[in-house]
Amino acid sequence: MLGRAILFIGLPLGALSLSLLFDPEPITIQSQESKTATLSPVFNRINWRAGASQDIWIMQQSHSGRHTPHEKWDRIAMVIEKGAPRTATFYQLSPGHLSFDDLGPKIDYRAACLMCHPNGPRAIRPDTHGELSLSMWNRMRLFAWNIRIKSYGRVQPQSIPSRTPFRYSSPAANAPLLVAACVRCHRDGGLLARGTLRRQNFLSIGFMIDNHIMPPFGLSLSEKERREIELFIGRS
Ligand code: HEC
Ligand code: HEC
Repeated sequence: MLGRAILFIGLPLGALSLSLLFDPEPITIQSQESKTATLSPVFNRINWRAGASQDIWIMQQSHSGRHTPHEKWDRIAMVIEKGAPRTATFYQLSPGHLSFDDLGPKIDYRAACLMCHPNGPRAIRPDTHGELSLSMWNRMRLFAWNIRIKSYGRVQPQSIPSRTPFRYSSPAANAPLLVAACVRCHRDGGLLARGTLRRQNFLSIGFMIDNHIMPPFGLSLSEKERREIELFIGRS
């Protein structure tokens, strides 16, 4: 009886999670976190491909509205090698299609990727009050994608040669965030380690605390700790 009940519920659930993960269509979002220099929306068109030892995440990005043809959007990618240590190699690509088989020429980074990606791939957060609405299906797909992204755990970011730096190297930019409410996860090793946050991550740190996304799971941030973080990221 129980076996049948498990099959009855388990099979459809398994089929659902497989179709959520393996629907081949890209998803376009208005990013909640990324904005243009003039605070206009940034649009991201994202897809990924799973492999036994390697996942590839690829994204087209528009800083000039959602109506510019996709082939003109900036194109970037991240290749996750699932060995130990797990690594993510970052690529800026020349504009083109969202294809996995030939990423095409790798060009200089247009931004210091490490500023917002201290631990490889980022959870995807659409601005649901923006210009684009997301179907219930794509919301469920993003939920499944974000579980995949979180499941990578600690990831070492890797760069390729570029004239634009991949990370800022000054001691000030690399000062670590040492606030206890964050360091329990944002440290380099141990259970749940997510990589040390550094001052160059100030934009993402500010976004996470302003939107009450971090610390997660109902953990709280005291007023004193919030103040310490704000000083650390240069707010007075
Ligand atoms: C200003 C912050 C910022 C910078 C700089 C940045 N990214 Fe991202 N990136 C994000 C955010 C945030 C996401 C998640 C999507 C979203 O919510 O908008 C993302 C998503 C991605 C994704 C899709 C997979 C994922 O992580 O969700 C790729 C690929 C990517 N970025 C590559 C790059 C590369 C390559 C660079 C450097 C050339 C770079 N990014 C620089 C903020 C940034
Ligand atoms: C319980 C563990 C935990 C704690 C505590 C925690 N974080 Fe996170 N943090 C995560 C995880 C897991 C992610 C990636 C998934 C996500 O974005 O939701 C993340 C992502 C981030 C990112 C994006 C860079 C990245 O690694 O993907 C920033 C910035 C960040 N957290 C800031 C903070 C700050 C600031 C605090 C303290 C106020 C904090 N976090 C506390 C687990 C934690």
